[in-house]
Amino acid sequence: KSPRTIKLLNYKYSTDNWTNITPKIISHLGQNLHIAKNHPLSYVRQRIINHFYKSYLNRLGNPLFSVYDNINPIVTTVQNFDSLLIPIDHVSRAKSDCYYINQETLLRAHTTAHQAELIALGLDNFLIIGDVYRRDEIDCTHYPVFHQVDGVRLCTMEQIFKNVRDPSKLNIFEYGSNESIDKQRYHTLEAVKIMEYDLKKTLVGLVQTLFGKDIKYRWVNQIFPFTHPSWELEICFNDKWLEILGCGIIRQEILHKTGAVDRIGWAFGLGLERLAMCLYSIPDIRLFWSTDSGFLNQFVTDNINSSITYKPISLHPQCTNDISFWLPQDIEYSSNDFYDIVREIGGDKVEQILLIDTYVNPKTKRTSHCYKIVYRHMERVLSQEEVNKIHKQIEITISKQLNVVIR
Ligand code: PHE
Repeated sequence: KSPRTIKLLNYKYSTDNWTNITPKIISHLGQNLHIAKNHPLSYVRQRIINHFYKSYLNRLGNPLFSVYDNINPIVTTVQNFDSLLIPIDHVSRAKSDCYYINQETLLRAHTTAHQAELIALGLDNFLIIGDVYRRDEIDCTHYPVFHQVDGVRLCTMEQIFKNVRDPSKLNIFEYGSNESIDKQRYHTLEAVKIMEYDLKKTLVGLVQTLFGKDIKYRWVNQIFPFTHPSWELEICFNDKWLEILGCGIIRQEILHKTGAVDRIGWAFGLGLERLAMCLYSIPDIRLFWSTDSGFLNQFVTDNINSSITYKPISLHPQCTNDISFWLPQDIEYSSNDFYDIVREIGGDKVEQILLIDTYVNPKTKRTSHCYKIVYRHMERVLSQEEVNKIHKQIEITISKQLNVVIR
């Protein structure tokens, strides 16, 4: 029989006949790739945050949006569904679509799960970023764990009509009208249109910051239980239309229940993996979970805005050999000379070269470098013997050509 309780992220949960979370999924909890150093998902996260920081300033010139990127992904069905007006019989609640810990507790299926609680805390402008979990097939574009960014902005009547010369006859609410394709029953069309304009301008601005001013995009009508009207933004990538986010005007019932009764709001949600795959030409969503330095080292940069194009790495195992030598004292030495010789001798069998240590002898003042050379063939397994031969040849050649002394 399976155990009656389960410990996840340091908390104990009871299990029941709804429990369907697996050890493989549990192993992803707490990895937080979206805030991992030098991870592509982390770069996209930061670029999105920067866009919002720049787009909305308070009266002192400070960012208006606050960021929540570390909220526990274990949520209640109230957070994930009820607080967002998702009906009891909605397909997205199915056991076949979510990872349940028990009947009332699951791994969040979207970061929107935290929208209502943050509004209830009194926040008007915020981003929620984190890992989300959905049962799905595993192929190059689907993985049961991925990362989302949600954004929410609430406005008062004064904020909405701040650019109108005589706002005295304008309102954001009206009573007695019915819901239409353009608006919810409580909202005035003029308030909705101003919010729609602000929302779309900001999100188009975001894809233009990420992909350049010439990116082709289009808006498509959509339906979500928690927004109305709702849209999806698609971008044209490699001649295909790709859906990258959902958004809309927040259902006023959500603002009523959370105490933001005098406001109208917009919300959006997007997936980080999609954007990162397009931005960096990453062909397989599984690569984001790779711990292989052949993947990770391609994303080492101190400028998150630099354009990086991922070059596919071989799936055969790596062989790593270190090499240390004293630099010549009387002639100039440059690491690039060394790199060229290694490439010359090792060819495509060399995947990476890293300078891992520099040491200066305090007495002799001589400098020594230590490099890690990672060998890997694209088509076949390299034997250590074969690698050692190449390595030896490199040692002989650099001793002769660069006047270094192998340690
Ligand atoms: N939560 C939605 C999703 O995961 C995205 C969304 C968020 C849509 C907020 C509208 C508003 O698909």
